[in-house]
Amino acid sequence: MSLRVCLLAAEVAPLSKTGGLADVAAALSRYLAAAGHDVRLFTPLYASIDRSALPMRSVDGLQEVPLQVGTHHYVFSVATTTLPGSGALVYLIDCPALFGRPAIYTTDPDEHLRFLAFTRAALAVCRRMLWSPQILHCNDWHTAFAPLFVKALHEGEPLFARTRSLLTIHNIGYQGVFGAEAIADLELGPKTFLLHQDDLRAGKINPLRHGILFADAITTVSPTHALEICTDEYGMGLQDSLRMRGDALTGILNGVDYHVWDPRNDRYLPEHYDPDSLAIKARLKSALIERLGLTTPVTTPLAGMVSRLASQKGIELMFDSLPQVLEWRDLGLVALGSGEPKYEHFLANLAQSFPGRVVFRRGYDDELSHWIEAACDMFLMPSRYEPCGLNQMYSLRYGTVPIVRRTGGLADSVEHYDPESGRGTGIAFNDFNSEALEWALNTALDLHAEPAQWTQMVRNGMAKDFSWEKQGEKYVQIYRRLAG
Ligand code: ADP
Ligand code: GLC
Repeated sequence: MSLRVCLLAAEVAPLSKTGGLADVAAALSRYLAAAGHDVRLFTPLYASIDRSALPMRSVDGLQEVPLQVGTHHYVFSVATTTLPGSGALVYLIDCPALFGRPAIYTTDPDEHLRFLAFTRAALAVCRRMLWSPQILHCNDWHTAFAPLFVKALHEGEPLFARTRSLLTIHNIGYQGVFGAEAIADLELGPKTFLLHQDDLRAGKINPLRHGILFADAITTVSPTHALEICTDEYGMGLQDSLRMRGDALTGILNGVDYHVWDPRNDRYLPEHYDPDSLAIKARLKSALIERLGLTTPVTTPLAGMVSRLASQKGIELMFDSLPQVLEWRDLGLVALGSGEPKYEHFLANLAQSFPGRVVFRRGYDDELSHWIEAACDMFLMPSRYEPCGLNQMYSLRYGTVPIVRRTGGLADSVEHYDPESGRGTGIAFNDFNSEALEWALNTALDLHAEPAQWTQMVRNGMAKDFSWEKQGEKYVQIYRRLAG
């Protein structure tokens, strides 16, 4: 039986993206649409979205709709499109007062209002379309108030009477906390008692916590991370609420959209390859070396990195280990990313200290990120925490050996290579310190010097299947259980 699923996401690839949430929101919607479900994906129409990139049309009856959020008045309109190569419907909430800003996320004082308004607008659109979702699937802090809104603000409305909610936590490190003085923006009136009282007394309101408390089910994006976030080490202050909802919490590893991320059909690559044509991967490596002005020969192992440069990603483990390894061993490095200045400086300095061997491209570059996946020999992800992580799974498909810390989705998707048995897909280390990363880098380089072992590990990784056909079905099972 087909389900009516309303998905809310602050990012949707290829329209808007800062990280994996965008990829997952799009790929899960595609999967659901292909499986015959009535999926409608809501996302803000940011100013940064190229409106000519996808055919969009205004939705009749949903233009210049007034929206009151607390004492604030907004007006929004709705445009619609479908995801490329899919029938999945996207509804874009166009509210220039909130989304007509240079970046997707801001540090503006009304940041919480931008996403409260978005969430409220999405529910208002369902009501105006007389569309009754069986599942309301919200993602991360931005839309985490949706379950409470349905229970408190839409209580008794037949349209939402059978709606059940799912919160997916992609990144518990971002909770969207705002000051309790903005309590009126929630418009809960007599239902204000539903808010988390200890937080209120401490002068704050935590959107993600309310998602955890009020969603009918909660997922995070890997089984290991579902266990981790219930601990003091990884719960980021929400562990008590998560433990309380333990029965409702599960982990579903993200899938990979192999229409976008596969060296057999990658639209950015001039030549395509598979496990039987790895010579082409070597040619792509030569091309990238030349393009970036590296002076290392093609035989020198090349490590890649594509990342938001945030403390989550474990960049500080590289501060000591990478210069050491570069000093003593034959290795090149291509890093792409942007974020916190201390990490950008580190990478920029590294490139200066090792000219011709290290290249740092600061910024966001989709095409280069695909080239790095294809052309490098190994890929670095020493994350402090990693709810799932997509790049290690992309790397496996591209025959680019992931070097990861054993946490969250990295632990669930990369198996440490054992030369004795020839099993395993990458290099995994446990401790969050630079010695452990240095060990991992040296282990990778030693294995690279043994072509038979290396090729075995590459082939093992390329044979892995993390497609949405497998992972998407797990969401459908939860939806069905919720919908009854
Ligand atoms: P996170 O969501 O925590 O950033 P993921 O590994 O789940 O981590 O997803 C990151 C996604 O964002 C990947 O698709 C990756 O290729 C992409 N990405 C991150 N930084 C950049 C960048 N600077 N340029 C291009 N793509 C990037
Ligand atoms: C996040 C996490 C990442 C995950 C992505 C998509 O931002 O940091 O690990 O893969 O969301 O779920």
